[in-house]
Amino acid sequence: MNLLYNIWRSTLGRKYLMALTGLALLGFVTGHLVGNLQVFGAPDLINGYAHFLKGKPVLLWGARLGLLGCVGLHIAAGFSLVAANRAARPEGYAGGTSYGSTFASRTMPFSGLVILAFVIYHLLHFTALQPGINGVGDFSKLTTPLGGGEPVPDVYAMMVLGFQVWWVSLFYLIAQGLLFLHLSHGVSSMFQSLGLRNQVWWPRITLLARIVSLAIFLGYASIPVAILSGLGREHATKARSQLTQAGPGPKAIVAPVPGLASVGKEVVR
Ligand code: HEM
Repeated sequence: MNLLYNIWRSTLGRKYLMALTGLALLGFVTGHLVGNLQVFGAPDLINGYAHFLKGKPVLLWGARLGLLGCVGLHIAAGFSLVAANRAARPEGYAGGTSYGSTFASRTMPFSGLVILAFVIYHLLHFTALQPGINGVGDFSKLTTPLGGGEPVPDVYAMMVLGFQVWWVSLFYLIAQGLLFLHLSHGVSSMFQSLGLRNQVWWPRITLLARIVSLAIFLGYASIPVAILSGLGREHATKARSQLTQAGPGPKAIVAPVPGLASVGKEVVR
């Protein structure tokens, strides 16, 4: 704790914290993208992957708490560095000129806050499955028999039905555009904070940061765009009927009807 406090007290320490937490978040964003791109395969692919992750609660909650810690430290260090910069140069540069800065670097706090708002919406949308905010219905009712066997949450149908709502897709695309802007400056400034900037390498690092952030943007944006263009339509149309069925959610089983034993154990599809 003392070590963290000592790191926090110096500007350089906070820059290191920003860079390292940023690196961890970049790792998450990249891994999450690779997982999500499985939506381009058969429904069982991404459903099996989500089912596998949910079956590892220690790993899942460890990663969630680690992520939360990184997000908290990243935001706190970012705002304290902005405040320290303002305190050091309250009037800004003469004539409003911002030497060496770019649009992306000047809008870092703004893009960061919109990404945070997006992540909160996204968690309510796809993790907490709040029906009131998705424009479709109760996603927790969507299940599918994995490989023809046990019923598991139908993450594939949830993504397709979710992005078929145009304003949801539009919001995701705007947030991903801002994520691109944030990363295109953030990735290069991470190298600078870690002391890895020199005249030879700087142009290459800047180019690498742009390529990485563009690849991440194109990967994420391809999902709502493909769904709006028809990806998964057939599967989602079948799944949609589950949304209107009464019942508590994914584990809903049709209650046995006396004298009709054959219908009794049928899983709601
Ligand atoms: C097209 C873009 C995206 C799609 C389709 C997508 C999909 C999903 C899905 C399906 C889940 C829920 C997983 C589950 O509980 O089964 C999820 C969780 C999450 N997503 Fe995304 N995501 C996208 C973009 C992003 C972006 C850009 C970020 C970060 C900037 C992000 C951050 C998260 C976080 C933090 C979680 C919670 C992980 C957890 O449950 O522990 N997502 N995402």
